[in-house]
Amino acid sequence: MKVLLTGGAGYIGSHCAVALIAAGYQVVCFDNLSNSRPQAIERVESITGTRIPLVVGDIRDREAVRRALTDHAIEAVVHFAGLKAVGESVEKPMLYYDNNVRGTLALVEAMAECGVRRLVFSSSATVYGQPQYLPLDEAHPTSATNPYGRTKLMIEEMLGDIAAADPGWRIGVLRYFNPVGAHDSALIGEDPNGVPNNLMPFISRVAAGRLPELSVFGDDYDTADGTGVRDYVHIVDLAEGHVAALAALTTIDRPLSIWNLGTGQGYSVLDMIRSFERVNAVSIPYRIASRRPGDVATCYASPAKARDELGWQASRGLDAMCASAWRFERMLATRNSG
Ligand code: NAD
Ligand code: WQD
Repeated sequence: MKVLLTGGAGYIGSHCAVALIAAGYQVVCFDNLSNSRPQAIERVESITGTRIPLVVGDIRDREAVRRALTDHAIEAVVHFAGLKAVGESVEKPMLYYDNNVRGTLALVEAMAECGVRRLVFSSSATVYGQPQYLPLDEAHPTSATNPYGRTKLMIEEMLGDIAAADPGWRIGVLRYFNPVGAHDSALIGEDPNGVPNNLMPFISRVAAGRLPELSVFGDDYDTADGTGVRDYVHIVDLAEGHVAALAALTTIDRPLSIWNLGTGQGYSVLDMIRSFERVNAVSIPYRIASRRPGDVATCYASPAKARDELGWQASRGLDAMCASAWRFERMLATRNSG
C-alpha cells in the first residue's frame, strides 16, 4: 500500500517512515520543510535502503496535495504536518489555526476529491487538559489550555464530523503522550531549532555542554518528588503504533477511532535526569525554577485500548529512551564538527 506522510521529514514522521517501510508499505513524504530538512529523508533512505519521494509542498495548498495524491496513487495518509510549539501558539494563534486547522481542512478536502479516505492523524495528550482522573483513557473529557491544544481539539472534532457525514472514511486519531529518543542508528532524531521547549532534548543539550543547566519547572507539585510526571514513550515504539493503526483501519468497521499511544508509566523530571545520568555516565547540572504556566502535575496514559484493538504495546523502557537520545546528540556533535 502507498502511503503519503505529511510532515514526513519531521521528528515523528521520519521515524514512522522507517517503521512503515519495514512493514512493507511504500512511502511518499510531503513536507514544506518549515521545521525540518530534506537530509532527514536521505537518512531514512540510508536506514531502509529504499528510495523515498519527497514532495516539497504545503498542506494548505489543496491543489499541491491533490497532485501528490494522484501522481503517486496514494491509498492512505498519515498526517504529521503541523506546528507544535505551545508558547509560540500563544503568541501567534492565527499562524497555528491557519497551519494546523486550515491545513488539515485543505488536506481532507483534497483526499475526498481523490477518493482517499484512510487517514491517521497526529493528535496529542494535550487534548485531555487538566486530568480529572488517571490514567487517562480515551473517554476522558477533552479541553484545551492553549491555542496549540485547541488546534488539535478542533481538528479532532472536524474529523469526527467528516466521519459522521461519510462513514466510508477510516480515520485513526492517535493521541501521543511524550515521544522521546531516537532510532538505533542515531541517524535520525529530535533536533529542535533554537532552545528546546521539551525536557528530553533540553537534557541532551545540557549533557553535551551546548546549554549550561536545566531548569526544573517546579518541585512543589503533588507528586512523589514534587516534579512533574509524564508518560515518555520511545519514538520507535510510537512509530510502530502508527503501523498498527494503519493496519487496523483496514479491518476495523468504524469510521473513526481514537487511540492513546503511551506506556502507562509516569516518570518525574528528576527520574529523567537521574536515568539519563546513570545510563549515559554524564552529569546534568540543574536548578529548581518556578512552575511553567499551563503545566499539569501528572499525566500518563491508559494504553489498554491500543493494546486490545491494535495489538500495540510500548516495549522500550526509559534506559533505551535516554541511551538513544544521547547517541543521537553525540552524532549531531560529530556531524556539526565534520
Ligand atoms: P516536527 O516539527 O519535527 O514535524 C512536523 C513536520 O511538519 C515538519 O517537517 C514541518 O516542516 C512539517 N510541516 C509543518 N507545517 C506544514 C505545512 N503547512 N505543510 C507541510 N508540512 C508542514 O514535529 P513532530 O514532533 O514530528 O510532530 C509531528 C506531529 O505530531 C505534529 O502534528 C505534532 O503536533 C504532533 N505531536 C507531537 C508531539 C511531540 O512531542 N513531538 C506530541 C504530540 C503530538
Ligand atoms: C515534560 C516535563 C515540564 C522542560 C509538551 C506539550 C504537549 C506535547 C508534548 C505536542 C514537564 C518539565 C520541561 C524544561 C522542565 N507536544 N520540564 N524543564 O509539557 O508534557 O508536553 O510536549 O503535542 O502538547 O505541551 O512536555 O517535555 O515540555 O515537559 O522541568 O526545560 O518536564 O515542566 O513536567 P509536556 P515537556
